[in-house]
Amino acid sequence: MTKNIAVIRGDGIGPEIMAQAIAVLDCIAEKFEHTFIYTEAPMGGEAIDRFGDPLPQSTLDSCLKSDSVLLSAVGGPKWDNVPKDKRPERGLLRLRAGLGLYANLRPARLFDELRDASPLKPAIVEKGIDFVVVRELIGGAYFGEHKTEARNGEDYAQDIMGYSEHEIERIAHVAFQTARKRSKKVCSVDKANVLDSSKLWRRVVTKVAESYPDVILSHMYVDNCAMQLVRDPSQFDVIVTENLFGDILSDEASMITGSIGMIPSSSLGDGTRGLYEPIHGSAPDIAGTDAANPIGMILSAAMMLRYSFEMVKEADAIERAVDSVLQEGFRTGDTMSAGKTKLGCSAAGKAVCEKIQ
Ligand code: IPM
Ligand code: MG
Repeated sequence: MTKNIAVIRGDGIGPEIMAQAIAVLDCIAEKFEHTFIYTEAPMGGEAIDRFGDPLPQSTLDSCLKSDSVLLSAVGGPKWDNVPKDKRPERGLLRLRAGLGLYANLRPARLFDELRDASPLKPAIVEKGIDFVVVRELIGGAYFGEHKTEARNGEDYAQDIMGYSEHEIERIAHVAFQTARKRSKKVCSVDKANVLDSSKLWRRVVTKVAESYPDVILSHMYVDNCAMQLVRDPSQFDVIVTENLFGDILSDEASMITGSIGMIPSSSLGDGTRGLYEPIHGSAPDIAGTDAANPIGMILSAAMMLRYSFEMVKEADAIERAVDSVLQEGFRTGDTMSAGKTKLGCSAAGKAVCEKIQ
C-alpha cells in the first residue's frame, strides 16, 4: 500500500523524536512492502518563525490531502510572549478543529517492565493499569466564546463551556465502540452536580448506552475520578469525558503509569484520517541533546498504522519491538533505573528498528 503522511516535526525535542518514528516507519515499509510518502507540514513555533502563523493554510491543506498526520510536539518558551492567536498551541487547536478530530484516545497502560517507575504504591500497581481516556477534543471551554473585558472597573474574563447533543452523542459512540474492543466498561466523567453542560452530557451518554447493552456504563464526578485514578486505577477500562476534564485527567493517567514519554495518542473524526501524537510536550530543556524518549512518538506511528491504515500486523510488529527493547533492559533517561542500560534518543529508535528487522 502507498500512504501519504503529513509530518509535523514540531519544536523542542520534536524533530529528534520524529526522526526516530520515521526511521521505524521506513523499516516497516521495507519489511511489509509499503510505500510511505512524507510531506513536511510546519506547525507551531517553527511555523510562527517561518510564516508568522502557527498553522499556515498550506499546512492545513497538506494535512487535509494526506491519509494521516503525524505530529511530535509544539511550543516552547521562545513563543511564550507572542499574542494569544499566534501561540503554537493555537495552531494545534485550529488543526484539530480544521480536521474535524473530535475523538482523542489516550491509552494509559503500565508496561510490565516499568512497574517500578509508577509513583503509586506497589499494592495498587499490582492490580494493573490498562485503560483509555476518550477525550472530546473540539468542543467545551476550549472552543466556546472567550473574552476579556473591563467590568466595574476591573478586568473580567470568560470561557464558555458548551456542548450540543450531537457533539456528545458522537464521542459517546466512540467510547462504547472502544469499550467493545476492550473490557466492555465505560465510565463517563462529568460534573453533573454543578454544570448544565454536564447534565446534558450525562443524559446523552445514558441514551447512547441503550444501543450498547453489552457495555456497562457508569458515571463519575470529575473530582472523584481524579481521586479514584490514584486510589485504584484498575477499576477503569474506558473513561469518556469532555475536553478540559480530559486534558487534566489524561495527564494524571499518564503519570500513574510512570512514563509520560511512552504514551501515544490518536485523534480521529468521522473518516479514517487521524492525527497521531505522543501526549508529552516539546521538552525544550533537553532539545538537541539526544536525551529524549522517542517511544511515545514511535507508538503513535504504530497507532496510525492500526487505526488509519488498518495495518494491524505492522502495528503489532512495532509494539512487540518496543516491548522487547524494554525487556532487554534498555531505557531512555526518563525511565532509567538501576541495572538498566541507558540509551539516547537515536539509539533507542535504532534498537526498535533492529527488533523489527
Ligand atoms: C494536550 C495539550 C494541549 C491541550 C495544549 C498544548 C493546547 O495539553 O494535547 O493535552 O490542552 O489540548
Ligand atoms: Mg494536555
